[in-house]
Amino acid sequence: MLAELAVILLVTSVCKGLPFYNGFYYEHILNNKTNNGNGEVIHFNGVRLVVNTPDDPLFGYRGGNATLPCTFHYEPKLNSTRKYRVKWSKLHKDNTKERDVLVAIGLRHRSFGEYKGRVHLIQKMPNEVSLVITDLRLEDYGNYKCEVIDGLEDESGIVELELRGVVFPYQPHGGRYQLNFHDAKKACEDQDAMMASFEQLFKAWEEGLDWCNAGWLMDGTVQYPITLPREPCGGKEMPPGVRSYGERHKHLHRYDAFCFSSALKGKVYYLEHPEKLTFAEAKAACQDDGAQIAKVGQLFAAWKFIDLDRCDAGWLDDGSLRYPIAFPRPNCGPPEPGVRNFGFPTRHMKFGVYCYKMS
Ligand SMILES: *[C@@H]1O[C@H](CO)[C@@H](O)[C@H](O)[C@H]1NC(C)=O
Ligand SMILES: *[C@@H]1O[C@H](CO)[C@@H](O)[C@H](O)[C@H]1NC(C)=O
Ligand SMILES: *[C@@H]1O[C@H](CO)[C@@H](O)[C@H](O)[C@H]1NC(C)=O
Repeated sequence: MLAELAVILLVTSVCKGLPFYNGFYYEHILNNKTNNGNGEVIHFNGVRLVVNTPDDPLFGYRGGNATLPCTFHYEPKLNSTRKYRVKWSKLHKDNTKERDVLVAIGLRHRSFGEYKGRVHLIQKMPNEVSLVITDLRLEDYGNYKCEVIDGLEDESGIVELELRGVVFPYQPHGGRYQLNFHDAKKACEDQDAMMASFEQLFKAWEEGLDWCNAGWLMDGTVQYPITLPREPCGGKEMPPGVRSYGERHKHLHRYDAFCFSSALKGKVYYLEHPEKLTFAEAKAACQDDGAQIAKVGQLFAAWKFIDLDRCDAGWLDDGSLRYPIAFPRPNCGPPEPGVRNFGFPTRHMKFGVYCYKMS
């Protein structure tokens, strides 16, 4: 019954040129009379369409490319090649809502929104419909659905894309617990980063992040990662872990932020300059060098991904003073690698500066 209804819908939508069917935008693609399969209806008689995607997540870097594998086959095997349609979409966190990424029929395809011009299919093997995303962005991480439609058969698989990156806690100029959810999101974005997800914070905790101030995460919860349990951070009795205050009011409640940054396209460097500089002079000096004063997310990315190591405190774009240590040594802070933070000195004090240049 449902199948028949779907046939009618398919046939009528093709005939009347309706723009939507099954969430697809066929309007542009199906207007090709030689290519529309005549709204062909297939009775599969027990033939099953199977879509294969990898179980393990894929990893990418900001600015890099990722190939999300997807193939399909028929069971039992078919002798003839068949027409099919492919739709890639990005799933919302709870895997319900979805956003179109790319739809393809034969050689024609169309990409949408943020993905326009950044995605294409690769079909190196027969029945391969893998998706390539180029110039990866921070927001690209998540679950993607590969959907293959052949007549009435509509099967899909999920591919998880993760970005390799670094999570850092962020406090603004005013100090601890100043940010509501929206401020926190903007604070991360202002530092060339985005608010971290729980999964990203959890991974950072597994890698040793320990921070005794609670910060906002993308899902609207407030949490903090503790590796070494101690009295002021939830108590000595509690096991190590990511401690949660649960969901908080996005306007009324104020905490720090956990931000996430991935690899950099440009370069971060300590500016060699004959004198120490005030904050305003530091900004101007980077500009004179054909660069900009570096943002906090950029310094963290350079420290994490290219082992930027410099034992000189420098101004950053938000007015904070920091330096990156990849190889700990005496007189350069604690024995662990990290980005050392001196907070926000008054802006007429004189220090070095870290600059950022697009390569
Ligand atoms: C229509 O489909 C045919 C066969 O697939 C193709 O050669 C042709 O370029 C298509 N026409 C347009 C306008 O896309
Ligand atoms: C990504 O793919 C694009 C186009 O296919 C290519 O020009 C670029 O060099 C690739 N980037 C990386 C980092 O491999
Ligand atoms: C495919 O071909 C084989 C042998 O060439 C034949 O036995 C079989 O019936 C065919 N299957 C279909 C579904 O046509």
